Amino acid sequence: MSEQGTNDVTLDAPSAPAVSGASPARSSPKPALRAGAALPDADAAVAAGIGKLDSSRLRADFGRQGAFLHLEEFLAPEVTAQLVASARALIPEINRNYLPGHKQGGSVSRHTIDERAPFIAELYRSKALIGWLEQLCGDKLLPSPDSDPHAYALYYYTRPGDHIGWHYDTSYYDGRRYTLLLGVIEESSCRLDYELHTRDAQVPDEPGSVQTTPGGLVFFDGDKLRHRITPLGANEMRVSLTFEYVTDPGMRPWLRFISNMKDAIAYFGFRQVFRKLAPRRKPRA
Ligand SMILES: [Fe+2]
Repeated sequence: MSEQGTNDVTLDAPSAPAVSGASPARSSPKPALRAGAALPDADAAVAAGIGKLDSSRLRADFGRQGAFLHLEEFLAPEVTAQLVASARALIPEINRNYLPGHKQGGSVSRHTIDERAPFIAELYRSKALIGWLEQLCGDKLLPSPDSDPHAYALYYYTRPGDHIGWHYDTSYYDGRRYTLLLGVIEESSCRLDYELHTRDAQVPDEPGSVQTTPGGLVFFDGDKLRHRITPLGANEMRVSLTFEYVTDPGMRPWLRFISNMKDAIAYFGFRQVFRKLAPRRKPRA
């Protein structure tokens, strides 16, 4: 069912990413993402950006929209540029998956990001970012456990027809699961279609549709937002980065099993999902 381990990504994106300063790193299979260029301070850059926002208004918007917020611009350009460079450098690490009738695309899990793009992990743990998201949603947010490959992950749409059908980002945790989606590369006609209030009988459903532009964000409660990504066209490319935060990282064993199987089949492959769970064998002498 899945295409685990296949890395044959089409690299025929029509143009350079829409963010200046990005440096596609296609020629080297193992680029040193931290070498040479000075990386931005993720936390400081986010804090500076947040300081310019009207957070009380955005908090009201988030509540009025049933735990959903879209901002076309959020990240500082230097942060976006670093994400673009990382996303391009990690193309050889993509795990492709195909679930007929539901999804088709590629992904790179947090485990690979930890090894190859630690700047993304720093951004995920930015105190300024988490504190601001807590303001928006009114919940105390915690990072997802180390074993969760979705904690921070890149999602690649690189072949015509790549998409994901209507779904919720269901929480298998004991608490709520929030998704922060950051636009990274947008050279496509894909849309993030959504429907607000579908699980609130008191409020009429409200459809919407946005493009996930580089440096923009979408933040939502995974169990409340019904959403999909429409199919990629020919000669297009789209990459997004999602961060997952939880209010209680506990998970019942059978839900853990369901969650792991879903992640292995639909996203990251069995090797990535179960690598942290199984004891490592000693290499034979
Ligand atoms: Fe989703």
